[in-house]
Amino acid sequence: MAQLWGGRFTKETDKDVYLFNASISYDKRLYQQDIEGSIAHAIMLEKQGILTLEEKDEIVKGLSTIRKRLEEGSLTISEEYEDIHSFVEATLTGMIGDAGKKLHTGRSRNDQVALDMKMYVRSEIINIDEELKAFQVILLRVMEENLETYMPGFTHLQKAQPVTLAHHMGAYFEMLRRDRSRLSDIYERLNYCPLGAGALAGTTYPLDRGYTASMLGFEGPTLNSMDSVSDRDYVIELLSALSTIMMHLSRFSEEVILWNSNEYGFVEIDDAFSTGSSIMPQKKNPDIAELVRGKTGRVYGHLMAMLTTMKGLPLAYNKDMQEDKEGAFDAIDTVKECLVMFMQMVDSMKFRKDVMAKSAMRGFTNATDAADYLVKHGVPFRDAHGIIGQLVLKCIEKDKSIEELSLEELKEISDVFEADIYDAVSLKTCVERRLTTGAPGISAMRGVLAEYRKYLKG
Ligand code: ARG
Repeated sequence: MAQLWGGRFTKETDKDVYLFNASISYDKRLYQQDIEGSIAHAIMLEKQGILTLEEKDEIVKGLSTIRKRLEEGSLTISEEYEDIHSFVEATLTGMIGDAGKKLHTGRSRNDQVALDMKMYVRSEIINIDEELKAFQVILLRVMEENLETYMPGFTHLQKAQPVTLAHHMGAYFEMLRRDRSRLSDIYERLNYCPLGAGALAGTTYPLDRGYTASMLGFEGPTLNSMDSVSDRDYVIELLSALSTIMMHLSRFSEEVILWNSNEYGFVEIDDAFSTGSSIMPQKKNPDIAELVRGKTGRVYGHLMAMLTTMKGLPLAYNKDMQEDKEGAFDAIDTVKECLVMFMQMVDSMKFRKDVMAKSAMRGFTNATDAADYLVKHGVPFRDAHGIIGQLVLKCIEKDKSIEELSLEELKEISDVFEADIYDAVSLKTCVERRLTTGAPGISAMRGVLAEYRKYLKG
């Protein structure tokens, strides 16, 4: 057992209590942030005349050596320490002696852990944003290749109107765009430095908080020391943004699972991204998509856990807040892993264009366009709706699509139909006439793709 406190205690901590209280088994992943924050703190202490130049130099050199040795593997984080802060400080003092003991001047583990966690969240926001962007690059490629790949668009999971694969993928591109923008909002809001808040009430040492804040890449120092050590809003916001990313991936997964089924047959998942059955030789299962859908639950769970942990906490720091880490770390790891797996699966997936087009043709997805044809020839829309309803019924009886009926058969329903009806209800016409911004028509889509290209460059 190795801890930073103990002066006022007359008895050793119970071993199980010690283990229950310790966080090093998981907060060790904050070692880089802890060392970087400590280096900035030491430099500021020297600038303010609180440490001598020699002491600062020894501390900075010692901390840099610890970081280097941890990275090389010649030093490992020993779990006998209570947390990462204790490990770094004790290792430093072991290396350089008394100067190491001065590092904690004007600082508490409360502002230290708040700083470490903020810096960690900041760097993971950047990592996740990069993955989201890489996924968007893949989606853009699929869109560019499929501007004329017709497929049914659905409402209520029933065929509704024809769209293109490019258009369908574009919906996910938009979701990821919002996901990225949410992450960037969170970054901006969290980017104020809590270091110097002390345990809760600041400190009597003349710290220059603005200086440490700018050394560590923050916009400035936080403005209330009690809030600084007890704010975990940014963890909750991150978990909420990660939950939304998972919700998007889960919806996409659900579609891939449906599209991969025998009934749809819209896609073929690459062999490298599917698995077989131990008993049924014909099986090729969409396990990756199912796992991504399944893992969504645990990320939501971490969000609920953190909201619940925080809800009754009086100001300022309480040990409850140590519970922010495992959930946040797991959510971050899960989202990154899911994004990588999922985007590679999409990248290697084959879209069966013929099956998609056939499916769009068989589902009366051009019924609205057939009604529009009548409207263009002077029939009021409400009547046209009824006429096409009868037409669909006739098609169902004959097991044919609208364009498979002869002109005579069409005229039996309404004599407004002429030979140009066939062109008017072809998939190509149905899609290409939809040219409002955001619609699937090719020239509308081209305009959107140009914007996406610009956005990805920016
Ligand atoms: N391991 C602690 C945490 O993660 C560090 C802060 C400890 N502060 C304290 N007063 N015990 O929250």
